[in-house]
Amino acid sequence: MTAHTADEITGRLRAAGCVFAEEEARLLIAAAATPVQLSAMVGQRAGGMPLEHVLGWAEFCGLRIAVDPGVFVPRRRTEFLVIQAAAGAEAGRGAAGGGLASGGLARPVIVDLCCGSGALGVALAAALGGADLHAADVDPAAVACARRNVVPAGGRVHAGDLFGALPAELRGRVDILAVNVPYVPTGEIALLPAEARDYEPRVALDGGPDGLDVLRRVAAEAAAWLAPGGRLLTETSERQAAAAAQIVAAGGLAAQVITDDELGATVVIGLRS
Ligand SMILES: C[S@@+](CC[C@H](N)C(=O)[O-])C[C@H]1O[C@@H](n2cnc3c(N)ncnc32)[C@H](O)[C@@H]1O
Repeated sequence: MTAHTADEITGRLRAAGCVFAEEEARLLIAAAATPVQLSAMVGQRAGGMPLEHVLGWAEFCGLRIAVDPGVFVPRRRTEFLVIQAAAGAEAGRGAAGGGLASGGLARPVIVDLCCGSGALGVALAAALGGADLHAADVDPAAVACARRNVVPAGGRVHAGDLFGALPAELRGRVDILAVNVPYVPTGEIALLPAEARDYEPRVALDGGPDGLDVLRRVAAEAAAWLAPGGRLLTETSERQAAAAAQIVAAGGLAAQVITDDELGATVVIGLRS
């Protein structure tokens, strides 16, 4: 079936189970260059592809972030991590008399590890009015996508396994280490919505038997990469929060759990004192 009018498209999306069908129809109509393209996009969305993959972008912290097929879609709840990271950096600025804890002055060193599209790093750098921004991911599709977002923001993207991807000169100099690790327990991947299960790579979701395996590896090395006063921020679920905080503390950081009920977000912050 070819959908033509906004009402027809809305009806088709609604029938396919899209909760925000009217808004999605509006976005698809605005994005399509031709009726043929619009029809194809509506078909993709009605077939279950995440809206962000159909459009090629996601809105995150008020920015338009390119999201390629096969790359994790930045979630709205993760904006909480960015807000907290920016608040911590501003507090550090005040406490250090104009500089961040490392003496980073107006140009903090930000690392967005497990960066996916690079949304966190780009949003954080924008919130802080500039940064020495580095992003890294192990998945080549994510690295290519992150380059589309991070390089225009003045940052660099590295490919590889966790800290192994980073330039050695960043060791001990990172002011903000933002890491949205995969944290879904392996046994729960099958329970995720089809949009995640079918369109996001397993490496972006699977956190091992208890969902905390990647965080364990991050926490074991984070202190060595952070500057004095630098912070690790990592998203987790409410259920995993206590265990995640213990893991961060075991890495030698002062751990704190913060939540935002409205966004349904839980973040563990680890401070290198
Ligand atoms: C939950 S997604 C988060 C992506 C992005 N930070 C965001 O919030 O939109 C996790 C990301 O971690 C990456 N990843 C998984 N294991 C990794 C590893 N060992 N080293 C680097 N990146 C890894 C995946 O490729 C994926 O892009």
